Amino acid sequence: MQVIKLAPSILSADLLKLEQQVRTVIRNGADFIHVDIMDGHFVPNITFGPVMVSALKRICKLPLDVHLMISDPDRYIPDFVAAGASILSVHQELNPHLHSTIQRIKQYKIKAGVVLNPATDLNTILPMLGELDLVLLMTVNPGFGGQKFIKDVLAKIRALAEIKLKNRYRFLSEVDGGIENHTVPAVVKAGAEVLVAGSAIFKQDNVGRACKKLKALALSSIESR
Ligand code: DX5
Ligand code: ZN
Repeated sequence: MQVIKLAPSILSADLLKLEQQVRTVIRNGADFIHVDIMDGHFVPNITFGPVMVSALKRICKLPLDVHLMISDPDRYIPDFVAAGASILSVHQELNPHLHSTIQRIKQYKIKAGVVLNPATDLNTILPMLGELDLVLLMTVNPGFGGQKFIKDVLAKIRALAEIKLKNRYRFLSEVDGGIENHTVPAVVKAGAEVLVAGSAIFKQDNVGRACKKLKALALSSIESR
C-alpha cells in the first residue's frame, strides 16, 4: 500500500517563531521536516546552512529532510551529516558525478536522494534508482516558496510510481512545490508518497490546523485512488 508522509518546509515558516511552529507541525501530522538549502548560485535565492539543521535537530526527533540546492554538494556533505541531516538530496542537474555523490552520502549511513527539476527527464536517473532512498520530483522550479504547481509533472510522478512498482524499488517518491489542498489529491493519486508543503502550512493563520488538514486530505486521497 502507498505510504503517505508530510514534510512541512520551514522555508515559509516565521523564523522568529521557528521553534514553536516546528513543534506545532510535529503535533499535527508532520512526518519529516523539510529544510531547503540554497546557495545563490544553483538557484537565485540564499537560505540556510548546517547551523539551521543542527538547531532543528535539538528540538525535533523527526527525520530532517535536507534538500540541497547548491552547486557543489560534495563539499558540504560532511557538514550536513554532522549537523544531523537524516536524508540528503542532491539535484541531478549540473552534477556529472551524481552516482559518486550518492555513494558519498550513503557512506555516512544516512539516506540519499536525487532531485529532478520539472524539465529534467526521469530517464537520466533510471540506472541508479535501485540505489536511492528518495526521488524528489520538483513541481515548481526551485528557488522560492509560494509558486504555482506545474501540472505537467504529474505524468512524471505517475511514470516513477510505475517504475517503482514494477522493479520493487524501495525509494520514496517525493514532490515539492505548490503542494496545497487543491493539488494534493492529484499528486497522491499519481503515486507521490512524501508531500513537501511550505506556504500551504506556514503561511496559514492556523499552522496546526492547516497541517492536520493537508495530511488528512493526503490520506483520504489514497483511499479514493
Ligand atoms: C522550493 C523549495 C520548496 C518550497 C516549497 O525551491 O524546494 O521546498 O519550500 O514551497 P511551497 O510549498 O510554498 O511551494
Ligand atoms: Zn525543497
